[in-house]
Amino acid sequence: MTGPRHTTVGIIGAGPAGLLLARLLHRAGMDCTVLEHRDRAYVERRQRAGILEQGTVDVLRACGAGERLDREGLVHDGIELRHDRRAHRLDFPALTGGRRVTVYAQTEVVKDLIALQLASGPPLLFDAQALAVAGADTSRPRIRYRHKGREHTLTCDYVIGCDGFHGVTRSAVPAHERRTYERSYPYSWLGVLAEVPPSSDELIYAHSARGFALFSMRTPTVSRLYLQVPNGTDPADWPDDRIWDELERRAAVDTPWKLERGPITAKSVLPMRSSVTEPMRYGRILLAGDAAHIVPPTGAKGLNLAVADVTVLARALAHLHRTGSTALLDAYSATCLRRVWRAEHFSSFMTSTLHTDPDQSPFETRLQLSQLDRIATSPHAAAELAENYTGLPLG
Ligand code: APR
Ligand code: PHB
Repeated sequence: MTGPRHTTVGIIGAGPAGLLLARLLHRAGMDCTVLEHRDRAYVERRQRAGILEQGTVDVLRACGAGERLDREGLVHDGIELRHDRRAHRLDFPALTGGRRVTVYAQTEVVKDLIALQLASGPPLLFDAQALAVAGADTSRPRIRYRHKGREHTLTCDYVIGCDGFHGVTRSAVPAHERRTYERSYPYSWLGVLAEVPPSSDELIYAHSARGFALFSMRTPTVSRLYLQVPNGTDPADWPDDRIWDELERRAAVDTPWKLERGPITAKSVLPMRSSVTEPMRYGRILLAGDAAHIVPPTGAKGLNLAVADVTVLARALAHLHRTGSTALLDAYSATCLRRVWRAEHFSSFMTSTLHTDPDQSPFETRLQLSQLDRIATSPHAAAELAENYTGLPLG
């Protein structure tokens, strides 16, 4: 097969952004094609975060991808924060007027969307690497791509870059037309999967002088755990016992709590970065998800932002299809960037409040502890965190 030569909407990347956009456009009666560089097994194995805001769950359900999510997703009513050997629970519904989150791994969302698309969706080509995008300021932008060793060109009415942080679409926007705002952090996360039931019903975010630790989960029998580590850390330097000992020390509290240990089945190191590229549209090229912005994982916002972007974008493209008006498309970048910058602020706040910078002064540590104490004692401060964590309504 040589693949299609023209499509209304050419989507680069089959992460959650590209797959969900294709699903939403298909349901709106629009034609599109998804090109994915990797093979299906690779895309379905990638370990990412796993906290879905209510708005994200609603969108997935509405497009038919909610069946397994409703069966297997774990609805959480709060999180626990630990600092100074004390634990404090944030009750999300009480603090936000009823909002909750769902724990369901991003990789499962991706599997569900791929299955739907292959069963009854627009074309999805794996092993199809976009090499370049051209003609952004013409009415026929083009994607040059390689599929199974051969080069092809796909002409489109619109090209959507859902190709993540390392994708090629962003660079099709002339350098003088875009601006990137960035922040890097002097630490990374060591993330592990363990075949052991989670040691608490809800997620635990722990501040400690030894560094941050996070206790999350995938299922009632699989834990997902993270430790702050120096940049450049080799996972091989972290044998299982060292990981469990360190998790235990960083989360130590004066009340009874026992960390269950079990076999660790995967280890990897994740860098932490904040980045936003503006605007998210140039002519007939639009960016969505990680291709336009990334957040450090502390606030669990990456997937939720990608879902919000493509929901706004699908509405705008469907509006154009129905009415011929580009009004919503013209507003796409500004509409998304408002939410993006809120999530950037929250993710950066969570990261800098909970991690210990290697060069941090005792004064800065005192400021962090004061902030955490404020969240533990003021319903206003707690509500601010809870509203951001559970997500603003999609509207
Ligand atoms: N051609 C085709 N596909 C590409 C290319 C290319 N040149 N470059 C990258 N891709 C694919 C990647 O292989 C990947 O499958 O684009 C996809 C991008 O997916 P994600 O990185 O998952 O990004 P996105 O869909 O925006 O999802 C955002 O995923 O990265 C996490 O933390 C992030 O949770 C957030 C969410
Ligand atoms: C995860 O479960 O992978 C996870 C949860 C919460 C975060 C980040 C990652 O803030």
